[in-house]
Amino acid sequence: MVKITGHGVKSCDYDSARIPRGAEFKQDHEFAVYSAIACERNKVQILSVISPIFTTASNVLEIGSGTGQHAIYFAKKMPHLTWHTSDCQSYLDGIDTWTTIANLPNIKAPFELEVSTSPWPEMQVDAIFTANTVHCMHFQDVDNFIKGAARALKKQGSLVIFGPFNYNGMFSCESNALFDQCLKNNDLLSGIKHFEEINILAVKYGMQLVTDYEMPANNHILHFTKI
Ligand SMILES: C[S@@+](CC[C@H](N)C(=O)[O-])C[C@H]1O[C@@H](n2cnc3c(N)ncnc32)[C@H](O)[C@@H]1O
Repeated sequence: MVKITGHGVKSCDYDSARIPRGAEFKQDHEFAVYSAIACERNKVQILSVISPIFTTASNVLEIGSGTGQHAIYFAKKMPHLTWHTSDCQSYLDGIDTWTTIANLPNIKAPFELEVSTSPWPEMQVDAIFTANTVHCMHFQDVDNFIKGAARALKKQGSLVIFGPFNYNGMFSCESNALFDQCLKNNDLLSGIKHFEEINILAVKYGMQLVTDYEMPANNHILHFTKI
């Protein structure tokens, strides 16, 4: 468990600071936690899309849980399912802090899952969810992520990816272009990915697109199913 003292808003710097974009310290509880502003802003709209998709799901694996805020909100709103949190090692204490505070029976303690280098869990899940991770990854990591997801999903299982994407080789808006530059300044191989390339990977690993949902702030939710 980490106990963080101090206060301050962090910049657009993911992996070097190991903090999700827009995260800030929050000291509302016994334990201070990172609070991702974006999570608070987008969680209601994301829930409205994933809730019908996850109606019959029992086990959902989240990749790149970040602070753990999405996990808590979604697990609370969908008590019929068990939410498995995961992320790179440096995020695990933070997720653990949030989930300990939330004290929900249907969230599992976070485990390390770096999509390219960690062993993927043996379990077969009904759904895999990830938010705002793909643009932080290198393309090879995205390939490994979709390959790993396809293996971990049960037949007819759902892969749900939230974030910004390019279409027809173009940024959807000026702010996405600026965001992409911000990401690349930090890590040249990161950046907003092309929808078409994600779709090709999904097909390569035995999945097909069900729906591409347009979301606020020039984001999308891509829903794939394992054939
Ligand atoms: C911008 S944060 C988003 C966190 C959270 N999902 C959210 O929406 O607030 C990006 C997340 O992607 C994760 N991530 C980046 N590359 C990854 C990789 N190769 N394997 C697993 N997670 C990765 C980071 O560790 C981090 O938690």
